[in-house]
Amino acid sequence: MGDIQPRDYRFGLADAPKRHWLRGDMELTALVDCFGVLLPEGERFFIRSLKFYEPKIEDPMLIEEMRGFYQQEAFHSREHAGYNAAMSSLGYDVTRMEAFGAALLGDIKTNSSRLAVTCALEHLTTTFSRTLLQRPDLLDGAHEPYRDLWLWHALEELEHRSVALEVYAAVMVRLPAWKRYLFRTMAMNMTVYTIARAYIHNLKLYAEADGVKPGFRFTMRCLRRMFISPGFILMGLPYFLKYYRPGYDPAGADRKGLVQRWRTLVGSRGTAV
Ligand SMILES: [Fe+2]
Ligand SMILES: [Fe+2]
Repeated sequence: MGDIQPRDYRFGLADAPKRHWLRGDMELTALVDCFGVLLPEGERFFIRSLKFYEPKIEDPMLIEEMRGFYQQEAFHSREHAGYNAAMSSLGYDVTRMEAFGAALLGDIKTNSSRLAVTCALEHLTTTFSRTLLQRPDLLDGAHEPYRDLWLWHALEELEHRSVALEVYAAVMVRLPAWKRYLFRTMAMNMTVYTIARAYIHNLKLYAEADGVKPGFRFTMRCLRRMFISPGFILMGLPYFLKYYRPGYDPAGADRKGLVQRWRTLVGSRGTAV
């Protein structure tokens, strides 16, 4: 599969749930978990969105990359289902969190919209993953199986980060460039708005399960972690904004150094079974 190497790793989170696994920091853990909880459904959505277009793809290299993408996302989805089961056993209302996310994805009615939203969500996961691999100290003090899962996931997100956009470019080739750009960036705007809604919905449920009032103080503590200390959203912002460049192509840039370094580290963590 070339640069895309599916790793069939298992982290066993369902059997070893850990409350506030990130330094015992409730808000920081909530911010990661409330994004992660959307992944099993989201990753199945990505696979379906790309598979629909596979018969239209003529480039055998791209077809091979798409198959690597499906396999990586299927492994991620499986491990994140275990992660969600762990959250559920700790008392968080995962059923409602997942249902909310699934309903939002279900509202997307056309195949081209599903593809454009997949491109947007893949860019968001790449942004988050890139931040994590560049600043692994963000996971200092994390419970080890959770840290290993996120690093493994982040590496594979970087490996397949250009696949959805390559499919988009191939199937939209007959549209004028300005239309392709507009559709792609409008889908990103809509996706950011939708993800924010799901995030707020899930954070509220998460806080309530922990007996914390999801009011002004909780919101301030979350915003502080997102934008000030450690400020992981702010760290990723310059990379995120690259998506708005006309002709944006994620395949190049600094990918190789980061991916090569983490391939060695993830491969030697001993978490594979
Ligand atoms: Fe993934
Ligand atoms: Fe992905």
